[in-house]
Amino acid sequence: MQLKSLHVFLKNGLIGYYSKDEIDAFFYRLCDAHLKLKRIDVSLKSDTVVSPQTFEYFEESLQRLLKYEPIQYIIGSTSFCGLDFIVDEKVLIPRPETEELIGWILEQIDSSKPIKILDIGTGSGCIAICLAKKLPNAEVYAMDVSSGALSIAKLNAKANQVEVTFIEASVLDWKNQDLVVDVIVSNPPYVRESEKEMMSPNVLDHEPHLALFVENNNPLLFYKAIIDICKINLKKDGFIYFEINEYLAEDTKSLFSLDAFGTVQLKTDIFSKNRMIRAKRC
Ligand SMILES: C[S@@+](CC[C@H](N)C(=O)[O-])C[C@H]1O[C@@H](n2cnc3c(N)ncnc32)[C@H](O)[C@@H]1O
Repeated sequence: MQLKSLHVFLKNGLIGYYSKDEIDAFFYRLCDAHLKLKRIDVSLKSDTVVSPQTFEYFEESLQRLLKYEPIQYIIGSTSFCGLDFIVDEKVLIPRPETEELIGWILEQIDSSKPIKILDIGTGSGCIAICLAKKLPNAEVYAMDVSSGALSIAKLNAKANQVEVTFIEASVLDWKNQDLVVDVIVSNPPYVRESEKEMMSPNVLDHEPHLALFVENNNPLLFYKAIIDICKINLKKDGFIYFEINEYLAEDTKSLFSLDAFGTVQLKTDIFSKNRMIRAKRC
């Protein structure tokens, strides 16, 4: 079979499940991942006859796409802040709004100075690793309760050639008097069970529920636990940065008590939704 026929094969198999543009995008991503061919090369080499192994790879990918598995899990990687990250079903796929959170942190930090950073709920390690990469003088720590997620995060730190100290612990009962840092950052689970019905099957059926969901009656439990941790593990004048649920922005803001925190600032993302908050420890 020729490369161009493989494209038709994918289109015929996925039509009705995805739009034409999405199917084209899948085809080019699969070509890039499996054949190391960029889009322009695919067009130039469309008459090339593909091997039986390549056909098998596309056939298997098609079956996975029919089950709405995210393309990032199928190819096993994603790009985030200009870096490549290994991803599988043990970790949340890093999102663009989290890149915005990193941009906000970097705006404020003087990269020439030593600094200690703790990322809570690190997942793939995307936040910790990007910060370690962009801030060569930073000492970066990253915590997660999931040993599976940490195994992926460690591979990502190695692949991106940064040092991060990983901690396997639950933020809900973590006690450590010794680690005091300048910045705590977290994108904790914040989607209420009641919001599940708004979510698409590629997220709901494939991404780890441990990374996403909180109970309707206590949706801010991770924020409360992390704010308590800040009282011990965040230096005076240090900053806490959170990614937040847009529907709970004001509730999240009100968790910061005035005696422990100075300025508390909400920030909107590119879609003008309140998706980030930062507070200064006083
Ligand atoms: C929304 S994901 C964020 C992943 C990654 N930081 C990102 O931004 O893509 C939340 C992460 O919190 C972790 N997590 C869930 N419960 C936790 C707990 N009790 N203690 C520490 N981490 C937890 C999950 O395993 C998951 O990796």
